[in-house]
Amino acid sequence: MKKAIYPGTFDPVTYGHLDIIKRAVRLFDHVIVSVAESAAKNPLFTAEERVVMIREVCEIDNVSVDRFKGLLVDYATEQNAVALIRGLRAVSDFEYEFQMALVNRKLSEELSTVFLMPHEQYTHLNSSIVREVASFGGDVSPYVPPQIVQYLKEKFSE
Ligand code: COA
Repeated sequence: MKKAIYPGTFDPVTYGHLDIIKRAVRLFDHVIVSVAESAAKNPLFTAEERVVMIREVCEIDNVSVDRFKGLLVDYATEQNAVALIRGLRAVSDFEYEFQMALVNRKLSEELSTVFLMPHEQYTHLNSSIVREVASFGGDVSPYVPPQIVQYLKEKFSE
């Protein structure tokens, strides 16, 4: 049973993340999408809200949704995962991802980071852009599923 972890802040989950999840389940027996608290990023949604949102839009066999605190490699070891999944959207992602993958490898030699490229229609996308457009009442339906559009509307009307 080869398990992989797809970690991220997912504030909120986008079609770009969902694209990576669908590619990852074709390679592994089980994928755990795991929400990091990422307190330093001052997320719009709580970790619990982000978990609920992903569960709602990601009903795929062999995918589960969880959250974690602390070091990613410790969590991955607890889960008996063999790999970490990360998306590479553009060259600009490379340096940071390379650094993170090497640090994680230093912390746990057993764990490999697997990079997947999302469909090119999602390479310009990130969650900050979605949050910003939604905060000004712009249309984010090309970027996130309808349920997430609704969650964003509710959050910005609070
Ligand atoms: N489609 C759309 N957007 C994508 C994407 C895709 N396929 N892939 C990445 N993104 C976006 C994310 O939504 C995020 O957007 P935002 O910053 O505008 O909110 C951005 O690209 C990536 O942010 P980044 O900070 O690189 O990753 P992350 O926040 O998703 O996850 C963790 C980072 C949680 C994996 C990392 O901080 C971590 O492992 N933390 C745990 C502590 C730890 O172990 N640290 C040591 C690791 S070296």
